[in-house]
Amino acid sequence: MDWNFNNKSKYKKILDQAKEEKRSDIHSFHRYFGKLIPAIPRAYIELFTNKGDTIGDLFSGSGTVAVEAKLLERNFIGCEINPLSAFISNVKTYSYDVHILNELNEKIEQSLYDDAYLSRLKKGNIPFCVNLDHWFRKEVIEDLLTIRATTNDIVLSSKLKKNEKQKYIEFYDAVISSIIRNVSNADPRHVFPGISKRIRALEAEGKINKNTKKSFVNAIKKKTKYYLEYQNLNPTDIQIINGDSVNDKFTKYKNSIDLFVTNPPYISSVRYIETMKLELYWLEYLKSQTEYSNLAKIMVGNDKVAKKDIDDNLLTPYAEINEKIEQLREIDVKNAYIVAKYFNDMEKVIKNMHLMLKNHGKVVVKISESKVKKIKIDTGRFLTIIALNNGFKLLDVFLDEINEKSRSLTTARNTYSDIILNDNIIIWEKNSDE
Ligand SMILES: C[S@@+](CC[C@H](N)C(=O)[O-])C[C@H]1O[C@@H](n2cnc3c(N)ncnc32)[C@H](O)[C@@H]1O
Repeated sequence: MDWNFNNKSKYKKILDQAKEEKRSDIHSFHRYFGKLIPAIPRAYIELFTNKGDTIGDLFSGSGTVAVEAKLLERNFIGCEINPLSAFISNVKTYSYDVHILNELNEKIEQSLYDDAYLSRLKKGNIPFCVNLDHWFRKEVIEDLLTIRATTNDIVLSSKLKKNEKQKYIEFYDAVISSIIRNVSNADPRHVFPGISKRIRALEAEGKINKNTKKSFVNAIKKKTKYYLEYQNLNPTDIQIINGDSVNDKFTKYKNSIDLFVTNPPYISSVRYIETMKLELYWLEYLKSQTEYSNLAKIMVGNDKVAKKDIDDNLLTPYAEINEKIEQLREIDVKNAYIVAKYFNDMEKVIKNMHLMLKNHGKVVVKISESKVKKIKIDTGRFLTIIALNNGFKLLDVFLDEINEKSRSLTTARNTYSDIILNDNIIIWEKNSDE
């Protein structure tokens, strides 16, 4: 395999140009650690596909690729295991009528401050959340329950058609999710929820003032405006499946994708679920601690492995990858298993992408090297070895510098593995439909 970082890559130039363009505001709908920069999908969707084509992403996360596909009038098929992420990305790609949202927003705002209305309002139950009182003040919990009940009530009693109501309720739920971290006691600057010294100090000085209703009202107004960007576009079909890209079957989508743009999870780098646990609990996607650990366990690259589940013989079909696994196994059996499992899982995803792609369709992958127990794992190169064995050829690979704006991600990664100097952008092409 000819694996050299191409520093004269024409694909890099195209990406660098795309980075100069203003990114769409809709990407800021919800914070999400490990977001792709929108310039990556934008550049390659424009380069490799035409309007009406179909873009895919089997790790669709918060929907960056889906949003770019929609803005560029392409269809999209995505898969994402985290139900909250799948939900958020669906909301981010719905076409809402901004006039209707504005009307609803106005009614919601009035109602939230109308004592007579609130005295009649039937609120829901407090959702399950581990250490709820640690994370949320009493008045914040009350306000969040009031907000959710009010938005449901206002949408349900509106003149919208029955089948439209759900879509509008989802907008408000997604906005609630987007403010949860800020109204919680957790330090918003941290990747994982935690109450920091900084927050405790501010608290002691009386400088923390959580106004949940105000945060919500500001957020609905701001986020409504984002949907103006979709207004004059031709309709497209955006499907985001809440599923498992490793084990689910995608035969229904055989030969239907023109281009995949994706950034797979890194090996034991970011515990995505943990970063979003308050939102997952609050929106009732996780209703117990068992549901939390079950979800964490099926995430690609996760490090939540019980001793009894470690297979200390697990290898891959690839000598070069196995060499690393063996090297690691001498130091740490658990991590060797995590790495072996990662590449086995990723092989299944690569096979799924091959199946779904049209002939000569391309895959743009953003990934970076990892360090596990100080051993460097060339994730991009290893994934390419697997791809070449599964009907792809390598078109190009180059290094993309991580810019300052994605610093939060770098912090997130560094929390668990001391990695990441540069990202690899790799382009594979489907050879033929054997
Ligand atoms: C690096 S993030 C992708 C972020 C996305 N590109 C964005 O901009 O928001 C990787 C995603 O893979 C998801 N994931 C992990 N294991 C998965 C699986 N088995 N099937 C589908 N998605 C999975 C994670 O939940 C996470 O959202």
